[in-house]
This record gives sequence, C-alpha cells and structure tokens, in this order.
Amino acid sequence: MSVDASPSAAAARAAVPHLVTPLPGPRAQALMDRDGAVVSPSLTRAYALAAASGSGYTVTDLDGNRFLDCAAGIAVASTGHAHPHVVEAIQRQAAELIHIAATDFYEPRYVELAERLAALAPFEETARVFLCNSGTEAIEGAIKLARYHTRRPGLIAFEGAFHGRTMGALSLTNSKLKQRAGFGPLLPMVYHAPFPRLRSWREGTGGDGSAELEVLRRSILGRLIAPLDVAAIVIEPIQGEGGYFAAPPAFLRGLREICDEYGIVLVADEIQSGMGRTGRWWAMEQAGVEPDVITVAKGIASGMPLGAFIGRESLFTWPAGAHGSTFAGNPICCAAALATLDVIEDGLLDNAARMGARLKAGLEQVAADCPAVRDIRGWGLMVAAEFGTHDEANAVQAAAFERGLLVLECGEAAIRFCPPLMVDEAAVDTAIGLFAESLAAVGCPVRPLPGMDETGG
Ligand SMILES: Cc1ncc(COP(=O)(O)O)c(C=O)c1O
Repeated sequence: MSVDASPSAAAARAAVPHLVTPLPGPRAQALMDRDGAVVSPSLTRAYALAAASGSGYTVTDLDGNRFLDCAAGIAVASTGHAHPHVVEAIQRQAAELIHIAATDFYEPRYVELAERLAALAPFEETARVFLCNSGTEAIEGAIKLARYHTRRPGLIAFEGAFHGRTMGALSLTNSKLKQRAGFGPLLPMVYHAPFPRLRSWREGTGGDGSAELEVLRRSILGRLIAPLDVAAIVIEPIQGEGGYFAAPPAFLRGLREICDEYGIVLVADEIQSGMGRTGRWWAMEQAGVEPDVITVAKGIASGMPLGAFIGRESLFTWPAGAHGSTFAGNPICCAAALATLDVIEDGLLDNAARMGARLKAGLEQVAADCPAVRDIRGWGLMVAAEFGTHDEANAVQAAAFERGLLVLECGEAAIRFCPPLMVDEAAVDTAIGLFAESLAAVGCPVRPLPGMDETGG
C-alpha cells in the first residue's frame, strides 16, 4: 500500500515513456474517427491520447505506447492508476452492494467516509458532510447550503475562477468565455472580484493581495452589492483551470475578516487543490485560514465519481428533504474513497511535498535558460510553467505528448503538471527532462541537464 509497493509501478518506472508507433497510432486514429462522428463536439481533447489502461503514473494507449502521466486525468488519479488497494476495494464492494441510495437509506460506507472526511476538515468546529457525484455538484450544494443558512441571494467569486459547468457553478466560473457564452441567463447577484495573480519567479508581478481586497471592499461590497445580501464568498485557494495561481495568505485572511464581519460563508473550493495535492490535505492549511465550507472531488476516490462538501455543523440548518441525490455516495465510490484515504495517509502527503519541490526546482532550472517561460509556480504537485502566449503553451504541450509526456494546459498560456501523488524521483526527473526537450523542440534553446540523454532520462 505504500508509495512504491506495487510490482506494476516498479515495472512502469523502468519503462516509461515508451513509444512504439508514430502518434496517433492506427488504433488511436480509428477511435478518434468514430468519436468525431458520435460524441458531443463540446469536449475539448487536448491531444490524441486514446487510453487503454493505466498503472501507477503510466498510461498505455490503444497502440501500446506508454506515457508518463503528469495530467492524472485532470488531477484525479491521486493514488496512481489502478492502485491495488483501491482496485481491491472496488471489486470487493461491487460484489457486495452496488447501489442503495444513501439519500433514503442508511449505508455503512457512506457513514464511514463522512466520519473520515469530517475528521480532516480544516476548521475547529465539528463538521458535517454531504457526498455527491462531482465537483460541480459539490459547488451547487455549497451554494444552496450558504443561501439556505443565510437567507441571502448574493455570491462573490473571482476573476479566472473555475467552479464547474452546471448553472449555479457556471455562474461562479470566470475562466474562459466559451464556457459561459450562450448559456445565460445565469444566477443573478453574482459578482467577480479580482484575484491576485502572483508571478514571483521571473517577472515578479503581484503583491500580497491587498489591492485586490480593496477592490472587493470598495467597488464590489461598497457599490455593487450590500455585504448583508451576500451568502457566500467562493474561492479556489489555488486557482486550477485559471492557471495555478495561489492566493496569498494575507488575501485569504482578508476574506476571512470580511466574512466574519458580515456573516458571509467562506467556501474554499478545494476540488483541485485538496486531497493532499499540495502536500497538505487542504491548500487552505498552507495559508493557515479556516474556511466555513470546503468542496472536494477529483482525487477523492482515485477516479471513481465522487464529490463532497464539508461544512461547519452550525451551517447545516436545513431540514430533511432540502438536499439529496440518487447516486451520490454510492457504495463503490465510497469504498474507493476510503481506500484512497488509506493510501494517501500512508505517506503520500509527504511524497507530494517532496516530489513537488523537486519538480518545481527542476522546471525552474530548465526554464532559467528559456526566456519563453515567464513563470514557474505552484505548491506541491500542482505546478505550472507559464508562457507568453497560448500558442507557445499549446506547442509545448503537443511536443511533450510526442515525447510521451502527458501534461495539460491551464490559464491563458500555462502548462500544468499534476501527476499522481505517488510519483517518484525517476518519474519527476524524466518529466523535467522531457519538458526541456519539448522546449527545445519548439525552438526555445535549453542547456542539456546533467545526465540527460536523447530520451530525456
Ligand atoms: C477548482 C474546481 N472546481 C470545480 C470543478 C468542477 O469539477 P467537475 O468537473 O467534477 O464538475 C473543477 C474541475 O476542474 C475544479 O478544478
């Protein structure tokens, strides 16, 4: 169950990446053609990966090409692909009970998971938990809880935020216009305040967030919406889709003060930054600020669809029937989440912190010689390299894929590394080497790293 335990992970370490066809290979291309004819065109495929299987930090495609996975299914495969402890829990649970509807009936895995999540809540007060099916549903629930409890309509979110795609969450989302275009009207009385975007590595822009707090206090809460009309302030402590910008602790403290002053619920969206990704359970702990509610999903169940919101007990003033969900907290998803918690507790927080530091330092070293990289930032295994333009980021992402490295764009012009939390030094160093090669391939000269050969290893 420990980080390096599984034999398949050891095998993957030795042999990733390993490309046996040009990309896309013939089977991948055939699948892409069928997909193009039948699947909703709203999906945005980053590149031509047609996945067949996964193990640890390796993904194998339909043609037998093996990739080093620093995307983790958008920061989801927290324990790595097919971790034996998680697989065993899912298989055992599937044979026992697949579904019962925890909204209507009692179910032990649901309660056990709620107990374990409540014990991890990043605030002093006793916690209560609602399980759901996805990140966006966790946000919907948090909005409803805050509105019900405060009996206020208004919501504050932040420029660049991504909170999901259902109508309530979409109203808070502000990362790309195409995600909102054509879908209005969205929720009324939602305002987006500026988010402090710190680029401290090369360009040194940004500050402690005091200027942005001033805009929130003066322009938004002073002119646009009365503080006593605001139910919740919803913030990603580290913006995910928006570009891996971490909110300065002083800014989060300022939000806490505003919420305390006016009885506003502070919701930390930890859907991407939570479950150990930054080396602590929650990014809010890094900042030392207690939220009132956190929303969780992605890494919580190693890929099974599960989300949650965890809130202070005093907020749960709603009655039976006010909120529920048929599939939510399904026994198989709960079993996967319980197994995921076991694995993360068994050394992955520390591993994420150590490997994250190694990754960031390595990327900084590579980028130091490449002026096209404007910033390297992030906490733990949530690290981004930012470029001057979207096209540059796109080209580097494509070059990385061609070399067997899976990464994902985020923000306006950044590439994110969000590998499984069980990555080891070999994987991190290989990722850094492949990043260097990818930069060189798109025309940004880099000095070869010590020990780097043609495969980036
Ligand atoms: C911070 C954050 N909130 C909410 C969501 C929405 O989660 P889901 O896609 O599971 O609905 C995401 C997804 O990327 C996210 O990163």
